[in-house]
Amino acid sequence: MSKTVAILTGGGDCPGLNAVIRGVVRSANQKGWRVLGIEDGFDGIIEGIKVRELNRKSVSGILQRGGTILGTSNRGNPLNYPVEKDGEIHWLDVSDKVIENFNQIGAEALIAVGGDGTLKIAQHLYELGLNVIGIPKTIDNDLKSTDVTFGYNTAVGVVTEALDRLHTTAESHHRVMVVEVMGRNAGWIALESGIAGGADVILLPEIPYSIGHVCAAIDKRRERGGKFSIVVVAEGAFPADGEVVVKVGKGESKGEVERLGGIGQYVADQISACTAMEVRTVVLGHLQRGGSPSPFDRILGSRFGVKAVDLIEQGQFGEMVSLRGRAVISTTIADAVGALNLVDPEGELVVAAEKLGIMVGR
Ligand code: F6P
Repeated sequence: MSKTVAILTGGGDCPGLNAVIRGVVRSANQKGWRVLGIEDGFDGIIEGIKVRELNRKSVSGILQRGGTILGTSNRGNPLNYPVEKDGEIHWLDVSDKVIENFNQIGAEALIAVGGDGTLKIAQHLYELGLNVIGIPKTIDNDLKSTDVTFGYNTAVGVVTEALDRLHTTAESHHRVMVVEVMGRNAGWIALESGIAGGADVILLPEIPYSIGHVCAAIDKRRERGGKFSIVVVAEGAFPADGEVVVKVGKGESKGEVERLGGIGQYVADQISACTAMEVRTVVLGHLQRGGSPSPFDRILGSRFGVKAVDLIEQGQFGEMVSLRGRAVISTTIADAVGALNLVDPEGELVVAAEKLGIMVGR
């Protein structure tokens, strides 16, 4: 039976989103279904309706492209949306408006591709009666209920390449190079790229660090003949006796969440004060989110897209696609949201890093 399905991408972009869109369109078209692309995340169905039809031709050539051809937004949260009334801004739940607009576009199901925030909205809309399927996305890899999210593998590749490049300049100048990477709540990017890139120190949000121990490790390495050190710091890392470093606070940002940033420079200043070494800082920022997806992310995104269409065919709404081992399966969106997939400070990966001689801040 012919169907019309809609897809949107929400939250921060990441490599592999276009592979998902292409996977959805190609497999849905094969079934004879129409696909509508909602532009700019939930923004595309909150105030007005920004929708366009997608077909094999419109998704041609996008597999290797970063970002999302649909656009995205990490601000338009229908559960807490700014509405101006009598010259004042009120933060309201506009879910009913979203459902009304969605019904107008004539689609029977919505595929919502996003991280924890987007999936929470998707779950809420599902509870209100919308036929929703979730697809997990985030370079931070902090979503529970899937072994890995697409975008993460590419980000780890970008950071690893940066660490390789920084090694040669750090070595030439006998410097400490502090590299700030993304990872708001979870330190996966810092940990895995740090291991892959031969870092000497890795600081994660899950392990509050002691600057005394960090400096001691750098000094010890120097005494052993290591004239330079590479320190990888997740943006959400913080000292045991301090707090996360915030660039733009909650109330000051145009969105609702606070923007992290600055821990790299903070750590660099601390290291500079407690060692004799010259220190430099690099903030990789959105470079980690941009550019072409790795083969792994193209394949995972494509498989997630195909699986989402299968779930719609089977009427399994309220489900989210997920990777478990080597298999793409599904789980409920409700199970996936709320708690995050964090690095286990006592887990095998952290212990292996320490056995490799990497200092993790403790
Ligand atoms: O959630 C992914 C993420 O990359 C975080 O690590 C980071 O804090 C955030 O997005 C930055 O988002 P924005 O695009 O709003 O700067």
